[in-house]
Amino acid sequence: MKKFLKIVGWGAAVVAALGLVAAVTVRLVSQARLEKSYAVTVRPVKISGDAAMVARGKHIAETRGCADCHGPDYGGGKVFDDGAMGRLFGSNLTRGTGGRVATWKDEDWVRAIRHGIGPEGRGLLLMPAEEYTHLSDEDLGAVIAYLKTVPAVNRERPETALGPVSRVLLTIGKMYLPPEKIDHSKTQPATVAAAANAEFGRYLAAGCTGCHGSNYSGGKIEIGPPDWPHAANLTPHAESRIAKWSEAEFIAVLRTAKRPDGTELNPVMPRTFGKLDDTELKALYAFFKTLPPVAQGVR
Ligand code: HEC
Ligand code: HEC
Repeated sequence: MKKFLKIVGWGAAVVAALGLVAAVTVRLVSQARLEKSYAVTVRPVKISGDAAMVARGKHIAETRGCADCHGPDYGGGKVFDDGAMGRLFGSNLTRGTGGRVATWKDEDWVRAIRHGIGPEGRGLLLMPAEEYTHLSDEDLGAVIAYLKTVPAVNRERPETALGPVSRVLLTIGKMYLPPEKIDHSKTQPATVAAAANAEFGRYLAAGCTGCHGSNYSGGKIEIGPPDWPHAANLTPHAESRIAKWSEAEFIAVLRTAKRPDGTELNPVMPRTFGKLDDTELKALYAFFKTLPPVAQGVR
């Protein structure tokens, strides 16, 4: 009996030691990713404050979901705040106290939105810059011009404190820092002409790849938590719904978040895309039609 207890005691000690090693490893690996410094060459973009540019920037900000994480007033908003994930808020993007853009140079804005890197060189956690890096110089300049006109909001940003689940996700590479996913040497076009064609659709659809995959076949969303539903197949495969929809039906699905059969889209599918204008939605439809058909989730 004594011997048995001794074995159990040793067993428990080994398990505890392994647990400690795992916890320390998770802490060290996740911290190294968070603190990694990125040096990139930031190419300047023209940021003009003319009214047409500001209006274009407002439309882009409103249709790309910036408010989902930065708040409807851009003074900062919650990304998550619970025991398992920890606390992460989108930054205050206004000139008010609690934000830091008031002292920013134009290149700091470009580095953040196009490269996903803060002024001190650190990756911006969960800021989906990989979906904005494709923006043309003109569109990026427009977004920045617009954000500079947003009224100041005085709101302190709660300090980021990652929980155990976030740390594990970072360690195993399921949570990422955007600069890891961006080709920083790629030169973006100066402008992309808005037209109801597949070329403009391809440009817009870059913002769908995070969830629908780089070939748009949908399936498991790598960047999301395990309880997220699979993304729909947007290729014209025989079994994808989109293949059977007319252009008008496709537009109505995005506008109303309801399919022609009346079923509602899961809220994980961002509602902000419903604010894209007719030309943009027609362009997306035209682009998805040109894709090679692939079964759902075959990436
Ligand atoms: C999924 C949530 C999310 C969305 C959507 C999002 N952001 Fe962010 N963004 C963040 C988070 C979180 C941070 C802070 C990251 C950090 O501090 O590590 C951030 C940081 C930034 C920063 C740097 C601010 C600073 O003080 O360092 C800028 C600029 C920015 N975002 C602009 C935008 C713009 C423009 C859009 C839309 C085109 C956008 N973001 C969409 C989550 C998001
Ligand atoms: C944050 C993740 C996410 C992003 C980004 C996203 N989607 Fe989705 N989308 C989903 C999910 C999840 C579904 C499935 C919803 C459901 O099952 O109800 C979906 C469904 C759809 C559907 C319905 C298709 C069907 O067969 O029911 C369309 C259309 C669609 N998305 C288009 C787009 C377009 C266009 C973009 C980019 C402009 C985009 N999505 C970006 C997550 C996303």
